Amino acid sequence: MSPRGEALRIGVLASGRGSNLQAIIDAIARGTLPAQFAVVISDREDARALERARTHGAPAVFVNPKDYRDHNAYDAALLRVIEQHRVELVCLAGFMRILGAGFVRALAGRVMNIHPSLLPAFPGLAAQRQALDHGVRISGATVHFVDEGVDTGPIVVQDAVPVLPDDTEETLSARILEVEHRLYPAAIRLFAEGRLQISGRRVEIRTQRVDSSTVGREGGPTAN
Ligand code: GRF
Repeated sequence: MSPRGEALRIGVLASGRGSNLQAIIDAIARGTLPAQFAVVISDREDARALERARTHGAPAVFVNPKDYRDHNAYDAALLRVIEQHRVELVCLAGFMRILGAGFVRALAGRVMNIHPSLLPAFPGLAAQRQALDHGVRISGATVHFVDEGVDTGPIVVQDAVPVLPDDTEETLSARILEVEHRLYPAAIRLFAEGRLQISGRRVEIRTQRVDSSTVGREGGPTAN
């Protein structure tokens, strides 16, 4: 809950399947995540994520990259939609575009991403393939705040997943995905409860709400 007693307004950016979006929808429906969908945005008109959002009754918006002259103009268009819908936390969930410095600065401390590896190992595309190629015994999933790099921002939560000898990219991805579906709602919940404080590279998880000046929620400190 926000200090005003309202559910956290989240905006999800997704390009494809949207299984993490679905996990967030399900957590809200179960009553385990005090959040509501301000908007779901995609850069692909045919994204399954948009369909899932509409089924749930959430505003679903396609922002077409072809309508904008460059990356910065596209980012600015995304920002306008985010602001129009009064989004408090942006959650990237399989959004296949790199957001520029302007976007990240405008929403500092208010953008999260989920990545299918134990960062800082295997950032970027095909993290599960990278893990298999490297021969690691353990991989996993990470939720982090987004900074100006690719998958480099302060880490909120992580969980490990074993890599088995006969794993393929598909089997490993599926095992990691199960963890992602648990981890992302849990991380958003910590934010909604006002319990995350970013100090440099580290994210402190408090037992009680922290002052809003430290992380991007409005309103003053509130006991849980
Ligand atoms: C997930 O593996 C996520 O970690 C990565 O992109 C994938 C998105 O899957 N960033 P989905 O669209 O949520 O099903």
